[in-house]
Amino acid sequence: MAVRLAAAVLIVVTVVLPGVLCRKIPSYVKLCKKSDPDFDACVISSVEALRPRLNKGIPKMNVPPADPFVLPALEVNRDRDAIKLRAHLQNIVAHGGTGFVINRLKTDLDKLAVELSITLPHIRATAEYDVDCRILLGNFKGQGVFMGNFTDVKVDVKGDGKVVKRNGEEYLEVNNVKTKIRVGDSSVKINAKDDRNGRLSESALQFYNQNKKEVLNIVLPIVQETAEEVITQIGNNILGSAPLSELLPA
Ligand SMILES: *[C@@H]1O[C@H](CO)[C@@H](O)[C@H](O)[C@H]1NC(C)=O
Repeated sequence: MAVRLAAAVLIVVTVVLPGVLCRKIPSYVKLCKKSDPDFDACVISSVEALRPRLNKGIPKMNVPPADPFVLPALEVNRDRDAIKLRAHLQNIVAHGGTGFVINRLKTDLDKLAVELSITLPHIRATAEYDVDCRILLGNFKGQGVFMGNFTDVKVDVKGDGKVVKRNGEEYLEVNNVKTKIRVGDSSVKINAKDDRNGRLSESALQFYNQNKKEVLNIVLPIVQETAEEVITQIGNNILGSAPLSELLPA
């Protein structure tokens, strides 16, 4: 009896407790087993179950608040034939991120590769800008506040990961991310600084409305590259929150 009790205590202390105490992922997160015959469907249902929590994020897993999603600052520098752009953006706030619709998810666990397609029905974004932009269509330079509504935004993400060792444990890291972003419709406003009669803001707006497609064609590749950097950083923060064996149980 005493031996059995001792054995039971030993098992609890050495096997069960470390598993419970060291578990880094909150228990409300449904994990999907590698062996799950429909792994992708499991991940989608796990994400759907988390949706109500995503506006506030999941601090323990380094998942940032998604609605509103805030980027304190962003620097963009591009110098190409068709565009020279220097932009400093701050207080970027986007509402509507948790309204995403998952169109498709395809994972390849052997290759650690993911393909994801989502639609964001409605995104409302604001940012303070300080921009100097030279494109064939004209030049734009100034500071102010940008506001935009974007509907039916389609985001396709393709990425893969690699396994790295830290402190003797295996972790997953983002290896490569590619995005493709398409915008259904958009309506933007700017309030330019030192624009007492509102003429600057008005002409920028007119310019945008008359050249929506061209402006988006120029801006979207930059948005995509920026999104890839942001996804990589957030992805690595999340993947670094728990070892691979916990994130992806056998
Ligand atoms: C965006 O939509 C909101 C309402 O959903 C509206 O109040 C705001 O004026 C719109 N902004 C722009 C730039 O169209």
